[in-house]
Amino acid sequence: MKKITIAIDGFSSCGKSTMAKDLAREIGYIYIDSGAMYRAVTLYSMENGIFTAEGIDTEKLKKQINSIRISFQLNPETGRPDTYLNGINVEKKIRTMEVSSRVSPIAALDFVREAMVAQQQEMGKAKGIVMDGRDIGTTVFPDAELKIFVTASPEIRAQRRYDELKAKGEEAGFDEILENVKQRDYIDQNREVSPLRKADDALLLDNSHMTISQQKEWLAEQFEKVC
Ligand code: C5P
Repeated sequence: MKKITIAIDGFSSCGKSTMAKDLAREIGYIYIDSGAMYRAVTLYSMENGIFTAEGIDTEKLKKQINSIRISFQLNPETGRPDTYLNGINVEKKIRTMEVSSRVSPIAALDFVREAMVAQQQEMGKAKGIVMDGRDIGTTVFPDAELKIFVTASPEIRAQRRYDELKAKGEEAGFDEILENVKQRDYIDQNREVSPLRKADDALLLDNSHMTISQQKEWLAEQFEKVC
């Protein structure tokens, strides 16, 4: 069977990653979480003095961006890929509220996007990939054979994120999460470079009232239609 490229874009915390990971595992494709890459650059910036009292030191980050190596390795315990930053497993560190609240301005920088998009295109060269993010169907793989755009109401997305953090034992208030979700939506949709938008040829999925298994089933049907 021919291998294709699958692009899954959408708003923050709408369950894209869960759908994308499950599909990739079932069809034997590589899964790449492009958001994890922007989160890793954000963590790097936090750990290397790029966030200053005056704001983001873009000149410093620009000089260092090509030495930031991001990779993924399957975690045998979870069966899912963990994110590595310059060889160190940062999967847990990049999922904190602090990283979530700082990532969108970093992801809006043109030179950061350029570097990440180049790495993502390299990872997807051989096809057989499911990548999720904000600009996969519009910028990274505009020729992807299957494009999905996922959305759900901000309140439902905030509730899912709240439940997820709580399950991991992380402290975060619902209102703070809702504010973060709305803020990221705004920055992602309004930035100059590759703003979040549905590609014209993407299929729209509003999963506000769908269970994970209903979403999985829907996605598997779309894949079967294309392959
Ligand atoms: O997908 P996730 O919510 O983990 O992504 C974190 C942030 O990274 C997003 O809020 C967005 O600002 C940025 N992002 C992006 N382009 C992508 C993936 C993520 O700008 N392809």
